[in-house]
Amino acid sequence: MKVLVLGSGAREHAIAWKFSKSNILSGLYVAPGNAGTEDIAENLPDVDPCDSASVISACRKYKIDFVFVGPEAPLAAGVVDDLEAAGIYAFGPCKKAAQLEASKLYSKSFMKKYGIPTAYSEEFDNVEAFEKAIEKSEGKVVIKKNGLAAGKGVLESDDKQELLEFGRNILKDDTLLVEEFLTGWETSVFAISDGKSYVILPPCADFKKAYDKDQGPNTGGMGSICPVPTVSKDLLAEIEKEVVIPTFEGIKKEGYTYKGLLYFGLMITDRGPKLLEYNARFGDPETQALLPLIDSDFGSLFDAVRKQELASFPLEISNKCSLCVVIAAGGYPGKYAKGNVVHYMPLFRDDLVVIFHASTGRDMDNNIITGGGRCFSVVGLGKDFAEASKYAYIAADEVYFKDCFHRSDIGKKFFEEL
Ligand code: AMP
Ligand code: GLY
Repeated sequence: MKVLVLGSGAREHAIAWKFSKSNILSGLYVAPGNAGTEDIAENLPDVDPCDSASVISACRKYKIDFVFVGPEAPLAAGVVDDLEAAGIYAFGPCKKAAQLEASKLYSKSFMKKYGIPTAYSEEFDNVEAFEKAIEKSEGKVVIKKNGLAAGKGVLESDDKQELLEFGRNILKDDTLLVEEFLTGWETSVFAISDGKSYVILPPCADFKKAYDKDQGPNTGGMGSICPVPTVSKDLLAEIEKEVVIPTFEGIKKEGYTYKGLLYFGLMITDRGPKLLEYNARFGDPETQALLPLIDSDFGSLFDAVRKQELASFPLEISNKCSLCVVIAAGGYPGKYAKGNVVHYMPLFRDDLVVIFHASTGRDMDNNIITGGGRCFSVVGLGKDFAEASKYAYIAADEVYFKDCFHRSDIGKKFFEEL
């Protein structure tokens, strides 16, 4: 099987890394890829993942059998629909099903229609009605932009001026939801679906705030752990019964199939699990912590998905613990510099530490250079979280480029409860 992974982030590096260890692959390509994926696959830097024609022509040229779509943008752009129309298999939902992520209004109405527990919310498309609702609101509320916003479309606040400004800005060219603020703790559950059946992977948690002790602005995610010590078997069974099963039944009733990864972002409240969001793809940086724990041959797993034989696939999951620390560029998630030379990258055995690159490149002297806000995902593995954390931080402290920073407390709030 020849595989093409679309994307250039640390998530896609992790996906390509798993495929590179498969015994059944005869070719592995990443488009556009980064300086990390070039060591394990052939990068196709000129292929634009959101441009169907460019992806299809690469598939024909390299005789690709399986396209793995990493990020959300190509899904929302309908690249999977176009690949399928061209007779090329793609792992990822069609454009209609990807609306579960791409439109917060659609996903909220889906949740309501199928009785999936979620926060109370109201939708607004005009400024006056929105302003009235904010004036009347008490305490913290959440505003969500309808369309994709790369992690920047949600504000939780009790400051009416801040809420009004954020909402008015969105309403210039989009609609929004004003949502009840839920308290509890967050976890994310991923299900791989082949269109006929699904499997649930070990639960993950990501750490969205930029700085230690959950301070500072929201980011795409500064670290992650897998599994989550506080998600018991009973809680996972409850999440499956209340959220996962009604979702897949709802999808069927809506008359489409879902083939791809479905991500359930949950808040565990004292009234039980509530669904905050769906994503139509693997989470970043959850995937970087999760994938090293999948023991099954990754190529065989996705070959089974392609053949819709997931129900009989013997998925093997390691009983290790995994902890991922993101190394970010100074200033992220605000303004930050790109093109910094990476002076030091540690090397470890990959059963202890794996380092995934995000949007890195090479300069004229072949140095690795940064290319984004979140530059590396450093993943430590161990028999328990103390060991996983120790390895992750030994390595994270060694990665060096100008003004780099990382959180020093990834996972801690979960271990302290142990
Ligand atoms: P979303 O994109 O909907 O997952 O929102 C991004 C983040 O905002 C979530 O991971 C939560 O940390 C926070 N959030 C979203 N909705 C709520 C809510 N109703 N109550 C509290 N926090 C929320
Ligand atoms: N880490 C959250 C996400 O991938 O959406």
